[in-house]
Amino acid sequence: MLELFALLTLLAAASLAQSSPQSNILAVLRQEGFTEFADFLAASAPDLLSGPKTNLIVYAPTNAAFRRRKSSSDLLRREVPEEEEACSYQIAQDVEVTGNTKRSYDHGRENGVCNEVASPGAADFMTFLDDPDFVNLPPNNNASIVQKNMPKGALPVVHSGLGDVVKVTGLDIPFDKGVIRPVSGLFSLPRLLSFTLPFLGTDKALAALDETGLINDLDNRTGITFLAPDDRAIPNNISASVLAEILRRHTIVGLPVFTSDLRNGDTYQTLAGTTIAVTVQCANVFIGGARILAGDAIIKNGVVHTVDKVYHLSSSPSTQKH
Ligand SMILES: *[C@@H]1O[C@H](CO)[C@@H](O)[C@H](O)[C@H]1NC(C)=O
Ligand SMILES: *[C@@H]1O[C@H](CO)[C@@H](O)[C@H](O)[C@H]1NC(C)=O
Ligand SMILES: *[C@@H]1O[C@H](CO)[C@@H](O)[C@H](O)[C@H]1NC(C)=O
Repeated sequence: MLELFALLTLLAAASLAQSSPQSNILAVLRQEGFTEFADFLAASAPDLLSGPKTNLIVYAPTNAAFRRRKSSSDLLRREVPEEEEACSYQIAQDVEVTGNTKRSYDHGRENGVCNEVASPGAADFMTFLDDPDFVNLPPNNNASIVQKNMPKGALPVVHSGLGDVVKVTGLDIPFDKGVIRPVSGLFSLPRLLSFTLPFLGTDKALAALDETGLINDLDNRTGITFLAPDDRAIPNNISASVLAEILRRHTIVGLPVFTSDLRNGDTYQTLAGTTIAVTVQCANVFIGGARILAGDAIIKNGVVHTVDKVYHLSSSPSTQKH
């Protein structure tokens, strides 16, 4: 009887040790059922998690989600990502925890009128992806992802390349260097602006950028934020050269500005030398008077937000200087 008790205690202790936050990533992934992602991580990027960094967030697709990535419908949408890059893009560090705050807003709080609105919040996290094939950012900047909270306590979603959004599907599971955050799929790697725009319903803008050659400048610049007018926002009678000229006013230069960075009253410098201002009204964010329809499509050299207006056609473009 006593032996049995001792044995049970031992077994309990053993299983506790296995699932404890002291365990390494592969052990915890395997124990929690993320076996396919664990194999992927072990095979493609075994050294990724051996460094001194802590407060890591490992966005781990469930086995079902991981298999879906290989399905034919997925292949139609995007190429199978390069394995090591795909792995390093799934791992981020929570800089707020490490003291370097670059984080989060709650749009509703900035405006008393909106207190009743359950506004989404957002945070951008830098990942381990630094391969120059996929990243062209200022020094010490790896590719980011943007995580957004959902209203009413629903689990967050995560924005990556090509305008892709995956869902967080479960609560964080601790391991020795951070947490595993279950997600509904692998992130899409960041690509050039020219490659990304067709995924966002912004073909007219791309056509004008192509026709005028401006796309090469935008693709090659380090650190841009492109405000891509939705196709429906662009009148048919506007010429490519006029549109391209206007699109210079839709390009913020110098750095990626994620929606998590946008604050009411912020101003940004554009490629055309103009200044555009941010207005936040509840969950709606306007930039230069245009509303952001979909934010945070991550690109190789920054980020794209689709907007509902072309600036010179909007009623009150914001051109104030500071
Ligand atoms: C960028 O990625 C590299 C390679 O994975 C990693 O060693 C480095 O720590 C990352 N840098 C930051 C600032 O996260
Ligand atoms: C600019 O980007 C294009 C790809 O869009 C590339 O072929 C070209 O070599 C780049 N040019 C420079 C100067 O970097
Ligand atoms: C384009 O069409 C709109 C009406 O749909 C008109 O107001 C505008 O003046 C036209 N612009 C040009 C350049 O023809």
